[in-house]
Amino acid sequence: MDPATATINQIPKEIPNHIAIIMDGNGRWAKARGLPRIAGHQKGAEALRSTIQACIDLKINYLTIYAFSSENWKRPSSEVSDLMALLQNYVKNEINEISTNKIKLNFIGERKRLDESVQTTLRDAEHKTKNNKRLTLTVALNYGGQQEILEAVKDLGHDMINGIIKPSDINEEIFKNYLQTSDIPEPDLLIRTSGEQRLSNFLLWQSAYTEFAFTPTLWPDFNRDCLESIIHEYQRRDRRYGGTG
Ligand code: IPE
Ligand code: IPE
Ligand code: MG
Repeated sequence: MDPATATINQIPKEIPNHIAIIMDGNGRWAKARGLPRIAGHQKGAEALRSTIQACIDLKINYLTIYAFSSENWKRPSSEVSDLMALLQNYVKNEINEISTNKIKLNFIGERKRLDESVQTTLRDAEHKTKNNKRLTLTVALNYGGQQEILEAVKDLGHDMINGIIKPSDINEEIFKNYLQTSDIPEPDLLIRTSGEQRLSNFLLWQSAYTEFAFTPTLWPDFNRDCLESIIHEYQRRDRRYGGTG
């Protein structure tokens, strides 16, 4: 083989830098088995554990997951409290493992509505993992993309009133700094499980040029093979960003 061809063949196919996941279908997974919805959420937490490990093995730098939307408060209060307890216990039980794996954990979404003890758990987890560099795991909790954009607009308004910024200075880069995701790059690939094909208020600004992948697999059944096959499909796509490719 000529050396030039050999070099080209050795270049690894591009792994997405940032994957976002809408983990959907826990309720349907439980219903199909005659189990309560919380059983689906519990199995979903196991799927999350193995997906995080797969992301580490694949050297993905950023993983952002949708755990609870601003609209999920519409669910029966018993399911909301089960979900909050599950999330809090998950963070408490996994934090040492997360830390050992050099994962930086952070949370986006409106915290004020969460129980004080949940807020403390999130703060402690962020503090404990803040210097980790292997994988940045962002958990969207009581998160809504529209609400996030409105909060950014309010903060921007304050800065304008205080003369910190002029309206003519505002551009996409500046606006991005006012979002809760200012420290992380835009997602390259967004996966939604369970066959639904909508964003449900997730990462509205950030997903302007994200590649979408929808799979019928219910979240509790999601595993490394599912992730790898979606990544292979992603690698065959041509991301043009409005250009000609
Ligand atoms: C996703 O599963 C988990 C959350 C939204 C918290 P669902 O609970 O939405 O499951 P389905 O869509 O009812 O099957
Ligand atoms: C989106 O799923 C939110 C999460 C996965 C946390 P939903 O199940 O709440 O979305 P809709 O209601 O089907 O759009
Ligand atoms: Mg759902």
